[in-house]
Amino acid sequence: MNINVSGIGITKFGELWGVSPRSLARQAVEAALEDAGLSVSDIDVLIVANMLSGILGNQEHLGALFSEELGFFHTPSFKVEGACASGGLAVHTAVNSLLGGKYKRVMVLGVEKMTDHKPEFVSSALMGAGTNEERLAGMTFPGVYALLAQAHMKTYGTTEEQMASVAVKNHYHASLNPNAQFHSLLTVEKVIKSACVADPLKLLDCSPISDGAAAVILQKTESTRLPAGQGKQKTEVNIIASQVATDTLGVAQRKSLTTLKATEIAAKKAYKEAGVSPKDIDIAEVHDCFTIAEILAMEDLGFCEKGKAAAFISSGKTTLGVAKNFVVNTSGGLKGCGHPVGTTGVKQIVEIVEQLRGSAGKRQVVDARIGLTQNVGGSGATCVVHILKKDNKQ
Ligand code: COA
Repeated sequence: MNINVSGIGITKFGELWGVSPRSLARQAVEAALEDAGLSVSDIDVLIVANMLSGILGNQEHLGALFSEELGFFHTPSFKVEGACASGGLAVHTAVNSLLGGKYKRVMVLGVEKMTDHKPEFVSSALMGAGTNEERLAGMTFPGVYALLAQAHMKTYGTTEEQMASVAVKNHYHASLNPNAQFHSLLTVEKVIKSACVADPLKLLDCSPISDGAAAVILQKTESTRLPAGQGKQKTEVNIIASQVATDTLGVAQRKSLTTLKATEIAAKKAYKEAGVSPKDIDIAEVHDCFTIAEILAMEDLGFCEKGKAAAFISSGKTTLGVAKNFVVNTSGGLKGCGHPVGTTGVKQIVEIVEQLRGSAGKRQVVDARIGLTQNVGGSGATCVVHILKKDNKQ
């Protein structure tokens, strides 16, 4: 399977109180069109990824809203929602619609505006991705992931310091990313001493509440080469695998709390589809909504044996400038770059494309050829894995 990413666009992530969702969407879409050397009329369908606009902003019908706002009049347009995996699922939907032959060129827009609302309201809106029982029990997502962290600590001896080292690494990477929400460097001690949100997770173990948008333009590989002199010439990056798996919505129904089964299954299928193994991956953007989530991801994606990821990460083996040939979350991840929930899966693709093109600036990983994204919905109930490869013919 070869689907080309011909354009990418991203906004700054953060608390963007002076910017509307429409304006965020416009910035990302215009940047992606400019990057591809295309205009709105070249796009056959607009797929919008978003989770919370209905509940937070009382605004649904985002396909029509953004097609009007962005000048895609009469173009097919619709929303894809799958909690924090909305972005990855929208990219997966775009890939399938191209493979099915219905459309030639698809724009995927991830957009989310969360910070205009009270944190407790946002927290309860996010729990819409959990079960009724979890909500009635007063669970929040920090609480759910705290349970997973406790299970991992008990089973494998994972420590709070090791979890904190994930935040330290990702804030360091974010400090090199101009679009990231945080540019502050952390220490393990600072993370451990930050306020406890849900034991053992501290404030600095959590991804933040964020605003931000990202857009990608996808097309079939054979239709990408424009006549000489037309469009921008740059390194081609192709999506070579796109897989989704699901698990029970609630954590209580699962056999294990130390593995996110949906990640394991989606990853195995993606490696098979791409014809690669975890050892072939040079860079990965994984779903570190909480520091424990990156540790689980590293194990469930097959990068580390079960119980070994915490020590692997804390020894610097996935840190830019320290790692030899495998760096994780160069964007700063959800933790440091921010987590506008519906946007995250699209932003992960943008970051991998920047890296594979060699245009990631100060956070560039030398000679990166193959990248992976892992985008999770809720407590691991949905997982989307994409694998992308630089076209060596360039
Ligand atoms: N990481 C780093 N710094 C953070 C942060 C985070 N996750 N969250 C907030 N901050 C900073 C703020 O910038 C602010 O700094 P300042 O005082 O220098 O301006 C300070 O910490 C306090 O911020 P505040 O907005 O009062 O935090 P809060 O208590 O309202 O929210 C959390 C903190 C962790 C509870 C909130 O970010 C949260 O709920 N995160 C999880 C989101 C989530 O569940 N997403 C879905 C995942 S599945």
